Amino acid sequence: MQRNPQLNAQGELQHLLSIEGLPREILGQILDTAESFVGVTEREVKKVPLLRGKSVFNLFFEPSTRTRTTFEIAAKRLSADVINLNIALSSQTKGESLLDTVANLSAMQADIFVVRHASSGAPFLIARHVKPHEHVVNAGDGRHAHPTQGLLDLYTIRHYKKDFSRLTVAIIGDVLHSRVARSLIQGLTTLGAPQVRVIAPQTLLPSGVEALGVKVFHDMRAGLRDCDVVVMLRLQNERMKGAMLPSAQEYFKNYGLTAEKLALAREDAIVMHPGPMNRGVEIDSSVADGPHSVILPQVTFGIAVRMAVMSIVAG
Ligand code: CP
Repeated sequence: MQRNPQLNAQGELQHLLSIEGLPREILGQILDTAESFVGVTEREVKKVPLLRGKSVFNLFFEPSTRTRTTFEIAAKRLSADVINLNIALSSQTKGESLLDTVANLSAMQADIFVVRHASSGAPFLIARHVKPHEHVVNAGDGRHAHPTQGLLDLYTIRHYKKDFSRLTVAIIGDVLHSRVARSLIQGLTTLGAPQVRVIAPQTLLPSGVEALGVKVFHDMRAGLRDCDVVVMLRLQNERMKGAMLPSAQEYFKNYGLTAEKLALAREDAIVMHPGPMNRGVEIDSSVADGPHSVILPQVTFGIAVRMAVMSIVAG
C-alpha cells in the first residue's frame, strides 16, 4: 500500500497537505493540541517557545485575510520567525518557477512553508522537493483542499457540540468550487459524524458528490430540517467559467440563509461560514450577526489550530 505523503515512516505528521487519508488519531491529536493552545491565546503573554529559532515562510499566491494573518499570529505565538513573501514584488513576476522560489527560500534556512496557491496540488509538489527537515502546510490549493480551515471548522463544531457521534451537518452553497467543503466533509466522515448533507443547485455540486459520503438536497428547506450545524459557503465567482446561476437575487431566494429558513434547523443549531461572506447572496446579515452565528469564533479558533499544526509537524 502506498504511504500517505503527509506522514513519515513512523506515521507522524510531516506535512499537512489534505485531511483526506489522515487517520482519526492524527485529527484528534491536532484538535486536542489546539485546545491546549486556546489557553495560551487567552493569556496576557500569548507566547510559548516551541518553535524558537525556526523560520516560517508564508507563501500566498492567492489573496487571503484570515488564513495568512492567523498563520502569522500562530507562528509568532510559537516564537518562530515569520517571513511573508510579497508575491507581487517577488521574482515570480520575472518568471521564476515555483520550485526555484522555494529552493532559494530553503537556502535561507526555512523550516516551514505555508502555501496557498490557485493550482490544485501545488503544496504536494513543493512537499516532494523540500529537504527532510522542512515542512509544508497547505493553506488552500485550487478547488482541492484547505485542511487547516477544515480542522478549525471541526474544532468549532467540537467546541459547541462536544462530540460528532449524533450530529447532522448541512453544508450549503457552492460545493463545486469549495476546497473548504471537501476538507470539512473528509474530516466529519473520519470523525464519525453520522449525517453530512450538502444543499445546492445541481450546477454547484461536483458530479458523484455522494461518493464523499454525503446526502444531497436541492431543496434548502428540506435539507435544513433538524440540522445541528449549518455551514454556509461563498459563491466563488472567480472560479466559475461562465454563468452557473440565473442571478444573485434568485440564488439568495433559494439558497440564502435567512432567519426564517434557519428556524427549520434545531433550536440550538450553530451557523458557520469560512469567510469571506457575501451578505445578501448566501447569508442574510441578521443570521451572520445573529445569536446562532459562530463565524467570528471560527477565526479565533483558527489561531490555536494553526499553532497546533505547526507545532506538531515541526516540534
Ligand atoms: N477562509 C479563508 O480561507 O479565508 P481567507 O481567504 O481570507 O484566508
